[in-house]
Amino acid sequence: MSEHMGLPYCYRLSPPIGQYALAALEFRALTGANGPRVPTPNPRGERDDLPRLVRARIGVDVGRSSYVAECLRVLAEEPTLEELLTSAGKLSLKRERFRIKLRESGEVKSPLSQEIERAFADTIVGSPDLSNPATLLVVIAQPDRWLLAEQVSSTARGWRGHEQRPFQYSSALPPRIARAMVNLVAAPGDRIIDPCCGVGTVLVEASSMGIEPYGWEINPKLAEHATANLCHHQQGAWIVVGDGRNARGRWGGAVLDLPYGQQCERVDSVCAGLVKRATEVADLIAVVSLQDLGELLASLDCRLLGVAELVKGHLRRRVHWASTPSGSQALSGG
Ligand SMILES: C[S@@+](CC[C@H](N)C(=O)[O-])C[C@H]1O[C@@H](n2cnc3c(N)ncnc32)[C@H](O)[C@@H]1O
Repeated sequence: MSEHMGLPYCYRLSPPIGQYALAALEFRALTGANGPRVPTPNPRGERDDLPRLVRARIGVDVGRSSYVAECLRVLAEEPTLEELLTSAGKLSLKRERFRIKLRESGEVKSPLSQEIERAFADTIVGSPDLSNPATLLVVIAQPDRWLLAEQVSSTARGWRGHEQRPFQYSSALPPRIARAMVNLVAAPGDRIIDPCCGVGTVLVEASSMGIEPYGWEINPKLAEHATANLCHHQQGAWIVVGDGRNARGRWGGAVLDLPYGQQCERVDSVCAGLVKRATEVADLIAVVSLQDLGELLASLDCRLLGVAELVKGHLRRRVHWASTPSGSQALSGG
């Protein structure tokens, strides 16, 4: 954190255990800024001491994010609480219906105290509103800094409730992970494909963010279930019953949750074919697999943008984020 001190915006990440690395990739995709460093390999996948606050030059709307809880504009930062209070007083902030909240940084257990919140509230000109504030001001304790910041945007936690659906199955992605993967490759207004869409988790997340999803599914029953799940959540998608290796057209992004077969160690020809076709029809891809796809992606002339390990119990999977040859060309203006 200290290396980025002075940058005007501060983001707070809130991934559950085992999803920190994907949160770091999502942060990069949403903000264009460098994410926090993730220790590799993440030894147990359950560390709780990774930085939750990341500074950046620009502020963006994180409303659709899975893991970026909020974007804050830093108003003051000082080495001690007393100095921060003095700086807050000098700012003479005028805010109507404000609320002050003390946040823990994840690195330091701040003394959660209403007194601190009250002391900062006393520096603000205007009336507080604790139940429905128009402005949220946040005080954060860092190991060596105290920050006063104003919330610019926060996640709408749009994946919530999507777990409840008429059709579940054991291979389905958790909606929160699916949403982050969509955010790696697309923004509202884009079109994406999911060439092996299962019961439609990715399609629901994409559609609910204003991204137009196209799904392929080889199993007709699962394609029906995907349609039912989309209807249940009042979302829409185009679904083709068929082999995703035959996908045609052009998409901004592709999200693939590869079928896992018996042979966990190697990428079988179906998976390799699905990835290959996705790289031919989309500019950016996010692929989750049990296997390391580094070699395959390199052989397809993709540029690896990041890899995130997802850990759940003994299950370790990797999300590969890459730009395809067409995507790299578009990025370089070619
Ligand atoms: C890991 S599951 C995807 C789960 C999905 N992300 C979800 O949350 O429901 C992989 C899916 O790929 C489908 N599949 C396997 N081979 C396929 C192919 N060649 N084309 C399209 N779908 C395929 C399987 O039927 C399975 O539903």
